Amino acid sequence: MWYGARKQEFLALANLAIATRQRKIPCVSPENGYFLTQMVRVRGALRVLEIGTATGVSTLYLQKGMGAEGAIDTLERQASAAAEARENFARFGDAARIRLFEGDALTLLREEPMLAGPYDLVFIDAMKREYGEYVEAVRGRLAPGGVILCDDVIAFGDKMTSLWALMEEGDLPGTIIPTDPEDGILLLTPEV
Ligand SMILES: C[S@@+](CC[C@H](N)C(=O)[O-])C[C@H]1O[C@@H](n2cnc3c(N)ncnc32)[C@H](O)[C@@H]1O
Repeated sequence: MWYGARKQEFLALANLAIATRQRKIPCVSPENGYFLTQMVRVRGALRVLEIGTATGVSTLYLQKGMGAEGAIDTLERQASAAAEARENFARFGDAARIRLFEGDALTLLREEPMLAGPYDLVFIDAMKREYGEYVEAVRGRLAPGGVILCDDVIAFGDKMTSLWALMEEGDLPGTIIPTDPEDGILLLTPEV
């Protein structure tokens, strides 16, 4: 991983990720986080949806890939994690460009009109056995050329039966990218 000119900015986030993991709070590794930044940039994503905020480390990595006009909606059901995420957004990111919705993701996606999209990129990192349901819930909210990224598909792939069943049904092109030594991210491109 080579950070380039914004090295200090990304080292600060990497330190946050490492400290978060040391507290046994789940979050992306610096490698996976930086890959998210790059994906947002490559896609030119201005509207991003995240399912599974925890304390907001991945949200901050997603935001690093956007310009000032970008905006993120992120969903988290655990109140204490959401409270800490808000603090992290204020400290490490642009909190005004992040909307954090508290509650169960599938319920929010069903009932919250502000989550209608369209989204350029969706990042899924919540309950592993619900990945298939999340993908079904978000695919109709993608902007043209929109992509879906699913985290942890190597480390916890055995729990993602609903996702693999959905992919077996077809019409959901995807590739697993081994983004760090222990894990990988599934890139879904519904239009390709
Ligand atoms: C792996 S952690 C997310 C880590 C975060 N994306 C990061 O990398 O910094 C998963 C989070 O998803 C939340 N979660 C799990 N199932 C959920 C659901 N159905 N709705 C909303 N949040 C959920 C958990 O409370 C937990 O905080």
